[in-house]
Amino acid sequence: MIVTIDPKAGFCFGVVKTIQIAEDELKKREKLYCLGDIVHNKMEVDRLKKLGMLFIDHEEFKKLRNTIVLIRSHGEPPETYDIAKKNNIQLIDGTCPVVKKLQSRIRTQFEKDQESDGQIVIFGKENHPEVIGLTGQTKNSATIITGENDLEKIDYTKPVQIFAQTTQSISRFRNITKKIAKKYKKNKKHTNTKPVVNDTICRQVSNREPVLVEFAKKHDLILFVSGKHSSNGQFLFEVCQSVNPRTYKISSPEEIQTTWFNGINSVGISGATSTPGWLLENVSDVIKKI
Ligand code: F3S
Repeated sequence: MIVTIDPKAGFCFGVVKTIQIAEDELKKREKLYCLGDIVHNKMEVDRLKKLGMLFIDHEEFKKLRNTIVLIRSHGEPPETYDIAKKNNIQLIDGTCPVVKKLQSRIRTQFEKDQESDGQIVIFGKENHPEVIGLTGQTKNSATIITGENDLEKIDYTKPVQIFAQTTQSISRFRNITKKIAKKYKKNKKHTNTKPVVNDTICRQVSNREPVLVEFAKKHDLILFVSGKHSSNGQFLFEVCQSVNPRTYKISSPEEIQTTWFNGINSVGISGATSTPGWLLENVSDVIKKI
């Protein structure tokens, strides 16, 4: 059985940067707090725990004083920075530069909207940490839409600026923004406003889609390795599954079932932008033993 690891899989540059910051800081001190899981991957979280990283939630963060806390690549809302200032917490900002830029664009737009009575719409997953950080830039006034069912939340008589969570699917974003534009057109007798679409999807995920399609087609079976809560992991897994029905999603090598490989000659291993390369290697080693 031939086993191949997708050469394009592994951490995106935003996650690489945050993990590097974490490892560098852990060399300087015995422990370091991180606000939330550093990546949506339990195996990587467990590895960093062994190096001294302490993962805390927002309630625990509020109780901390006079210490140092790492912010992960998803970013945080302004409220987190305010709490840190008040409680003398030094923040090490591991926010991905792409997310940081998006936060700043949304904040600038929100400030402009105060004069024009505009509204901000974010296409993303409700309660996802990145989306919480983005809506925080608008004092939580932005409308979050995850699909067609949410279109009624938009006020079609007001100007709108639409942004996307960085890890969303480009095709889904295009479809939904077309539907919004149609609704604005219908409403023309009330307003001359056209929606402004800001495609803020990170190409680190979307550029993988066509390459992943080819990779998934080439193998009899695909093992897609991803944390259960990873948005891009779910999206990229579905991409593989759409062209290769023998695609299985696993979060660790323990979930592999030997019966999957009956009559299989080639296995491709891929993963999310939050799946570490070492985990893909582990999965490969387990399959080779089978
Ligand atoms: Fe950043 Fe894009 Fe990765 S937004 S965290 S480089 S998927």
